[in-house]
This record gives sequence, structure tokens and C-alpha cells, in this order.
Amino acid sequence: MKPSILIVDDEKSIRDNLAKYLSGDYTTYTAANGREAVRELTENSDIEVVLSDMKMPVMDGLELLQKVREDNRDVVVILITGFSTIESAVDAMRRGAYDYLTKPIDLNKLEITLKNAIENKKLKSENILLRQRIREKIDATSLVGKSERIKEILDIVDRVSSTKATVLIQGESGTGKELVANVMHYNSLVADGPFIKVNCSALAEGVLESELFGHEKGAFTGALYMKKGRFELADGGTLFLDEIGDLPPSIQIKLLRFLQESEFERVGGTKTLKVDVRIISATNKNLEQLVKEEKFRDDLFYRLKVVTIEVPPLRERVEDIPLLLDFHLRRFTEIHNKQIKGISKEAVKLIKSYCWHGNIRELMNCIESAVVMSVGDFIDVDSLPPFMIIGQKDQPYGKSSRNLFDIEKKAILEALDKSKGNKAETARTLGIGLRTLYRKLNQYGVDI
Ligand SMILES: Nc1ncnc2c1ncn2[C@@H]1O[C@H](COP(=O)(O)OP(=O)(O)OP(=O)(O)O)[C@@H](O)[C@H]1O
Ligand SMILES: [Mg+2]
Repeated sequence: MKPSILIVDDEKSIRDNLAKYLSGDYTTYTAANGREAVRELTENSDIEVVLSDMKMPVMDGLELLQKVREDNRDVVVILITGFSTIESAVDAMRRGAYDYLTKPIDLNKLEITLKNAIENKKLKSENILLRQRIREKIDATSLVGKSERIKEILDIVDRVSSTKATVLIQGESGTGKELVANVMHYNSLVADGPFIKVNCSALAEGVLESELFGHEKGAFTGALYMKKGRFELADGGTLFLDEIGDLPPSIQIKLLRFLQESEFERVGGTKTLKVDVRIISATNKNLEQLVKEEKFRDDLFYRLKVVTIEVPPLRERVEDIPLLLDFHLRRFTEIHNKQIKGISKEAVKLIKSYCWHGNIRELMNCIESAVVMSVGDFIDVDSLPPFMIIGQKDQPYGKSSRNLFDIEKKAILEALDKSKGNKAETARTLGIGLRTLYRKLNQYGVDI
């Protein structure tokens, strides 16, 4: 896409000629004075450079520069100055103008200055992105766990790292879907591109549509200026569509078209845009069920799940709990400036046997509160939240055990209890093999 510039000059012939001259390489906008320029800037968020005359009625170049700085607009200002205003142009550079050109304008010099200005601006924003990415990257390597299930996930990440395959991540709330998406992006072909996230359930249908695809100026009441959508912002990188199960049908169609043709239009627009974006989506809903209920398009479902990743609930990988405890204990100890050296065996045992319906997020909250509440330098059972201890006594598998895994666990433990710990007998009563029983008990973290 061509970069956009705004040409501001009170002399119509000058601004029109400049606009014409530059229209080959740039999208050009014009304004007759500072005030008009401010309006153009609010209406056209794509403007990257302002090329402005110094002396103008209504609002001059310096006032315009000041306004741009006050509004914190991310645009480069280049001033055009006659002989009489050179001194103030130099002063303007001290106040944040990028450069100035003297009249009569040398067109070669103008082109070079514009090119440099845009390159400079790009580098600056890339720098910011880079710093942000380094911070996120540290998180990306923190997919803690050594269980088979986590190894499987890392294996898939590795296998698709050299492709741009569309990935669907499924799993209960708090299991680490977003973290997995992070790891996928930073281990992909487009790792150096942007990583843009959208939560599809957080926004109303209309807002979500223009958030994703952008909108043209005047597309709806209140659309005062053109806005790029997340698809455009993610060009050359990854778009992470979180809570995809909540995507309204009208947007499902647009997304399907994008996945088939990499094309879309901004809301209220007719121009077809093409971007190169890798899609990763996530949901805690059962998409297959939603397809059956005709709430989710099956053609879209199949497009999204070229590669699928099931992030297991924490209770199915209890063996990772010690590692997770260690990792997050260190983190929260540092964040809250505490001196915690460890955690008691009893506390770990209790944590391992708890049901964790909220998965790792719930575990993290629990660790954080234990760190904050602990008096000494050791975390013991009494530093854990009371509900864990009470929940443990009454109902080891959590109160609302609607989940198949919980029901199964409960049935197995009850049978084991009835047979007074005799595993062969337990397996027989349940009609499962002895090895299956051992595997299940191992999963629940029961000491065999
Ligand atoms: N394997 C892991 N190692 C360390 N921390 C993890 C791991 N998995 C998840 N977490 C942490 O747990 C928290 C929840 O993870 P995340 O937000 O990725 O879950 P989610 O599945 O997207 O949840 P939701 O469905 O509620 O959006 C995050 O703070 C994340 O860093
Ligand atoms: Mg999430």
C-alpha cells in the first residue's frame, strides 16, 4: 500500500501541483491551512507525513506542528519555508519537526526527504514493536510442563513452524490456549511480523466487524475517519482470533472468504484488499457441537482446523503441577517482593488432589494469594485459600462435577475404596484393564 501524505498550503496552485507530482508514489490529501489539516488528520488515520507551509492564515505551520505533538499523533511533520521564516523553521525542528525545505522547492530534494522521513518513521515503530516482542518472547518460552500432553503440543508447534498452516486451539478456560498461540507465532515463518489478537466475544457484532476488517470514512454514523482493521494490521504476521466460537454468522462468512481468497473489504467500502495473514484461533467451546446445532458454519470449521491442538485441563496432567508451582512461585515471590524459599509436601499434595476447574489461571491465583498471605518463608497448607481445604474434605473433585473426567475419577476412586485398595478387583468391577486403571490413577496423581 502507498504511504499517505497531507499537503498543507494556502496557495491552491502549489498544493495541487505538489499533490499531482507526488500522487505516483503516495496517496495524497490536501488542506488550505492548519485548521483544515487538523480535520484531515482526524478523518484519515492513514496519513503518515504532513508537508506544510509555514505562513498561512487561520493556523500556521508552527501551530499545526504544536497541535500534532499535543495530540500525540504518530505523523512526521516537514515544513516548507520561505526565506523570511528560515529561522523559525530551524526552531520548529527543535520542537519536533522532522525537517524543513526551502522555497522554491527542489523536487529531487523533496522526494529524498519524504523517503527518508517514512523510512525513519518505520524504523522507529519497528523498534517499539521489537522491544514489545522481546518482552512477549520471554513469556512464549514459558510453556511449563513435561507431561506427554505438553510434549505433544510442542511437537506439533515444531512440525508446523515452517508452514503458515491455520491452527485451531481448543481447551477449557485457563488451560493456556493463548500462551500456546504465542509460542506458535514466535516459532513460525512470520515470527518477525506482527502478532495481533482479537477477542471475538468481547465486542458487539457491528463493532467486531469494523474492528476486524476496518471501515471507510462515513460507513456508519460516527465513522468520522477511515480505520484499518486488525486483518490489515496483521499483514505479514499472525492474527489470533480468541473465543472464535462466539463469532456471529455474518462475520463467519467474511472470515471464510478471507481464508479461501485472502481478500476482504472494509465495512462500507468497495475496494477489495488483499493481505498475507496467518490465522490462529482458539475456543473453550465445543465447535463440533456448535456445527451440529448450526450455530457455526461447517465449511469455516474445516478451514480453521487444518491443524488442531487440544490443550488438556490441568487435572489431566497433574504431573506438571510441581513444575508449574515452582515456576509461578518464583515469579510471584519476585513480583511481591517476598522471601519465600519453598512449599511444604502437604501443600503440594493438596494442590495435586484439587480439581482446578479454572485450570492454570486458577492455580496461579491460588499461588499468588498464598505468596501474598504467607507470613514466614515457607508455604504450608494454612497459607492456601480456605476453599481448597474445605472443598477437599467434602468433595475432592469439586462441587460442580459435570465433567466426564471428574465423574470417571470419582467412580474409579469409589470402586478402589470399596475394594479396600485392591486394584485387580477394582479393575474387574469397573470392566477395565489393570493397566488402564494404573494409567488413570497416575493421571489423577494418586500414589500407587
Ligand atoms: N504451561 C504453562 N506454563 C506456565 N504458565 C502457563 C501455562 N499455561 C498457561 N499458563 C498461564 O496461565 C494463564 C492462563 O493462560 P491463557 O490465558 O493462555 O489461557 P486460555 O486457555 O487462553 O484461557 P481462557 O480460555 O480463559 O482465555 C496465563 O497467565 C498463562 O501465562
Ligand atoms: Mg484465552
